Amino acid sequence: MDSSLSSQQLVEAVLASFESTPDERLREIIKSLVSHLHQFVADVKLSHEEWQKGIEFLTAVGKKCSPERQEFMLLSDVLGVSSAVDVTNDNDPSATPGTVLGPYYIADSPRRPPGASLIDTDDGGPHLRVRGVVRDLSGIPIPRATIDVWSCASNGLYPAQDPAQAPTNLRGLMSTDEQGRFEFIVLRPHNYSIPMDGPVGDLMRATSRSPMRAAHVHLIISADGYQGVTTHLFDGECEYLSSDSVFSTRKALIRKFREDAAGEMSATFDVNLAASGSKPLSG
Ligand code: BEZ
Ligand code: FE
Repeated sequence: MDSSLSSQQLVEAVLASFESTPDERLREIIKSLVSHLHQFVADVKLSHEEWQKGIEFLTAVGKKCSPERQEFMLLSDVLGVSSAVDVTNDNDPSATPGTVLGPYYIADSPRRPPGASLIDTDDGGPHLRVRGVVRDLSGIPIPRATIDVWSCASNGLYPAQDPAQAPTNLRGLMSTDEQGRFEFIVLRPHNYSIPMDGPVGDLMRATSRSPMRAAHVHLIISADGYQGVTTHLFDGECEYLSSDSVFSTRKALIRKFREDAAGEMSATFDVNLAASGSKPLSG
């Protein structure tokens, strides 16, 4: 390589090498990525040893990935990139905001009738009844929307992490009724640690970060003609709301759970969906 090459000439040469990328969007993304990476190297004056460590870290992240474990997704989550993608793609502020999918989603949950309990393994913890209405942004209820729910048990574990739970525990697929209503019962979710037994855990320890996630129920709401949303219902009393390790708490998703005379907890979680084709807000 030309030893007199300046950083500026170098980055320009790399950018030029991507100039004939046929796909316009790929060209835009790769060029912006290259610019930011080069700026990062210059900003921190990255040493050869640090660059090597970075390569080893990313290699370890890749090796930890399997069909059951997506360590790159976890890395994106703890760096706040997953939430940045959510925020960037938010539509109208009155639409229910999206949050991270996380690693414990399993497709093909059992179909459950309206009002069903999703508790297949009762661990004795408090029950939480969730009721809501799915509406469009003008307030009109959306019938036959699909609600896909998964949640952790009172010990903060998902069925995939806990052999004591039935694999279908706290998972269910439901539809809204003609008035857009849905209702289900889960165990009150508990806060929990993200998986810390891989390179992302090493990063969290090296940076003295808390691994705790604020207590939440996961929901994916979808309906024909509308933009679906992957989101959470957060427990308003959780101590980790302001320090969620994946930066996914949003004010609009936090609910104070009410307790009735019989000790049952409940929360209302109405959902507003934007119509398909509406554009993300910019900036
Ligand atoms: C979850 O909510 O299930 C989750 C999200 C990100 C990282 C770990 C877990
Ligand atoms: Fe979760």
